[in-house]
Amino acid sequence: MVLQCSHLAILVLLLSVSLTASSSIEENFVQCLSFHSDKAVPFYQSIYTPKTASYNNILNSTAQNLRLLVPSAPKPEFIFTPLTDSHVQVAVICSKKLGIHMRVRSGGHDYEGLSYVSEIEAPFIIIDLAKLRAVDIDIEDKTGWIQAGATIGEVYYKIYEKSRVHGFPAGLCTSLGIGGHITGGAYGSMMRKYGLGADNVLDARIIDANGNILDRETMGEDLFWAIRGGGGTSFGIILWWKIKLVPVPETVTVFTVTKSLEQGATKILQRWQKVAPYIDNDLFIRVIIQPATSAANKTERTIITSYNAQFLGGVDKLLQVMKESFPELGLTRKDCLETSWIKSVLYIAGYPNDTPPKILLEGKSTFKNYFKAKSDFVREPISETGLQGLWQRLLEEDSPLMIWNPYGGMMSKFSESDIPFPHRNGTLYKIQYLSLWQEGDKNAAKHVDWIRKLYNYMTPYVSKFPREAYVNYRDLDLGVNKKNSTSYIEANAWGNMYFKDNFNRLVKIKTKVDPENLFRHEQSIPPLPLSTMRLKDNKCKTWE
Ligand SMILES: Cc1cc2nc3c(=O)[nH]c(=O)nc-3n(C[C@H](O)[C@H](O)[C@H](O)COP(=O)(O)OP(=O)(O)OC[C@H]3O[C@@H](n4cnc5c(N)ncnc54)[C@H](O)[C@@H]3O)c2cc1C
Ligand SMILES: *[C@@H]1O[C@H](CO)[C@@H](O)[C@H](O)[C@H]1NC(C)=O
Ligand SMILES: *[C@@H]1O[C@H](CO)[C@@H](O)[C@H](O)[C@H]1NC(C)=O
Ligand SMILES: *[C@@H]1O[C@H](CO)[C@@H](O)[C@H](O)[C@H]1NC(C)=O
Ligand SMILES: *[C@@H]1O[C@H](CO)[C@@H](O)[C@H](O)[C@H]1NC(C)=O
Repeated sequence: MVLQCSHLAILVLLLSVSLTASSSIEENFVQCLSFHSDKAVPFYQSIYTPKTASYNNILNSTAQNLRLLVPSAPKPEFIFTPLTDSHVQVAVICSKKLGIHMRVRSGGHDYEGLSYVSEIEAPFIIIDLAKLRAVDIDIEDKTGWIQAGATIGEVYYKIYEKSRVHGFPAGLCTSLGIGGHITGGAYGSMMRKYGLGADNVLDARIIDANGNILDRETMGEDLFWAIRGGGGTSFGIILWWKIKLVPVPETVTVFTVTKSLEQGATKILQRWQKVAPYIDNDLFIRVIIQPATSAANKTERTIITSYNAQFLGGVDKLLQVMKESFPELGLTRKDCLETSWIKSVLYIAGYPNDTPPKILLEGKSTFKNYFKAKSDFVREPISETGLQGLWQRLLEEDSPLMIWNPYGGMMSKFSESDIPFPHRNGTLYKIQYLSLWQEGDKNAAKHVDWIRKLYNYMTPYVSKFPREAYVNYRDLDLGVNKKNSTSYIEANAWGNMYFKDNFNRLVKIKTKVDPENLFRHEQSIPPLPLSTMRLKDNKCKTWE
C-alpha cells in the first residue's frame, strides 16, 4: 500500500515536471555533454527520451523485475548509454553541475529496480552502461580487466575461450552485470572453494564524485575496500574491475536430485543443514524449494526440494564424498553428469543440456519476472517443527520459491571486516525467499504481504542482533533513505543487517569521498550530516 501511494505521488510530480521542464533538462544535459566531452566519439545517438521510438525497449532491456516496470512506476527523463569511459565521466560531471539525479545501471538485476526507478526523486535519468562490455583476459598473468556493462556470463565465456582450466568465482545467473554484481559481494557455486567475486578483485577503475577516474593506487585502500561489497552506487561509478582468475579442473560433475515430502524431504533437509556447510570445499549443494503437484495424487500439492550441485572433480570422487558425508540423499552415478567447467556454469544457470557455451555472449536473461524477494542467514539448523511451519506457509502461496545456499569452507576463512560483506564464519547457509507472479495478476499486494509474513515467521530460526541480509538481494522493507538523506541514524538499521559493524566504516568513507551525496538511492550509504562532522572535529566520539 505504502509503495503504491508513493508511486502515485511521484507520478503526479513527474507529470507536472514533464509538462514544463522535460525538454530543457535533456537540452541542458546535451549542451553540457557537448561542452565537456572530447569530440572523438559522438554521443548524440546514445540519448533516449520518451519521444524516441526505442525508449521503452532500452528501459526494459535489462530490467529484471517487471514489478518495477508497470506503467505507474516512475520513468526516467531520458536514458544515456555512454560509448566510452569518458562519456560516463562527463555524464557524472554534468549530472552534478545541473543537479539532475542519476541512476546507474549495469546488468539491471537490482531486486528493487534501483538502477532504473527512483521512488524518492523526480526527475531522474539513467546512465546505462550496457554498451561498455569489454572483457580482457590475460591467462599468463591469471587476471582480467572487465568492464562494468559486461555480464558475468560473458566473463566466464571469455575465460573459457582462452583456457579450460581457469574460471572466476561469481554469480550463478549468467546475465548479471558485473558493475552491480561485484559491488555487493557476488557469490556462486565456487564460493566454498574460493570465496566471493569481491574477494577476488585486485584493482578497479572508478569515477568519483568529482568526476575523476581513479584506480586502486589513486583511490586509496579505504575506498578500494568500500567498493568490494559495500553495495552499488554509493561511492562512485565502477568502470572496470581487475579480477584474479582461479584454477578449475578439466572435469566437473553436476547433479540435481529431487525429494518430495512423501520421499522424506524434511529429514534429508535437516541432515543437509548439518552437512552442506562442512562438506568437501569442492562441493556446492544448494537446495531449491517450492510447491508442486503431488506425484501420488494430482489434486494435492506437496513441497519438493531439489539438491542442485556442482563438484570440482570427477564422479568417482564425488560419489565417495557423498557416501562418507551425505548418504541420506542417496546420490547414484546415474544422477551425475561429468562435464567441463563452462558447461557446469550453463547447467547451474538452468540452460538445457547441450546448449552451446556461446549463448553466454548474448547476455540474455533467463529470469525476468514480477517478484518480491528477501534474504536471511542461518546460524543454527532449523528444527523439524520450524520446517513444518514453513511448508504450510509455502503451500498457501501461488508461486513461492526458496533457495538455500551453503556457506563454510573458504567463506569462513575471511574475517568479517576483510571486505564490507560480513556474513562469514558461523553462517551455515543463506536463505533466499521469493514470490513470483504473472502479468495481470491483481494480487501483487497480497504476494508482497505473504512474503513479509513469512519473513516474520522465520524470525526465531535465523540470525539475530543483527538479523543479517544480503545487500545484493536488496529489500526496501528494511528501510529507505529520506530524500534529504542525512538520515544515517535510520540507515543504521538496514546498514547493520547488510554490513554489520562494517557499516560504520562505510559511512566514514562515504562522508570523505562523497559528502554531498551525489551517488545516492533509497538504500545508498548516507554521509554523516555536516553538523555531526563538526561535532566529530571537536573530538566528539559518538561516531568513532
Ligand atoms: C535472476 C537473478 C539472479 C541472481 N543471482 C545471483 C547470484 O547467483 N549471486 C549473487 O551474488 N547475486 C545474484 N543476484 C543478485 C545480484 O548480484 C544483484 O542484483 C546485483 O546488484 C546485480 O548487478 P547488476 O549490475 O546486474 O544490476 P543493476 O540493477 O544494474 O545494479 C545493481 C545496483 O548497483 C548499482 N550499479 C550498477 N552498476 C554500477 C556501477 N558500474 N558502479 C556502481 N554502482 C553500480 C545500481 O545503481 C544498483 O543500485 C541475482 C539477481 C537476479 C535478479
Ligand atoms: C516494458 O515492460 C512493461 C512491463 O512488463 C510492459 O508493460 C511494456 O509493454 C514493455 N514495453 C516494451 C516496449 O517492451
Ligand atoms: C486426493 O486428494 C484429495 C484432496 O486431499 C482427496 O479428496 C482424494 O480422495 C485423494 N485421492 C486419492 C486417490 O487418494
Ligand atoms: C570459526 O568459528 C569456530 C567456532 O566459532 C572456530 O572454532 C573456528 O576456528 C573458526 N574458523 C575459522 C576459519 O576462523
Ligand atoms: C536538507 O537538509 C538541510 C540541512 O538540514 C536543509 O537546510 C535543507 O533545506 C534540506 N533540503 C530539503 C530538500 O529538504
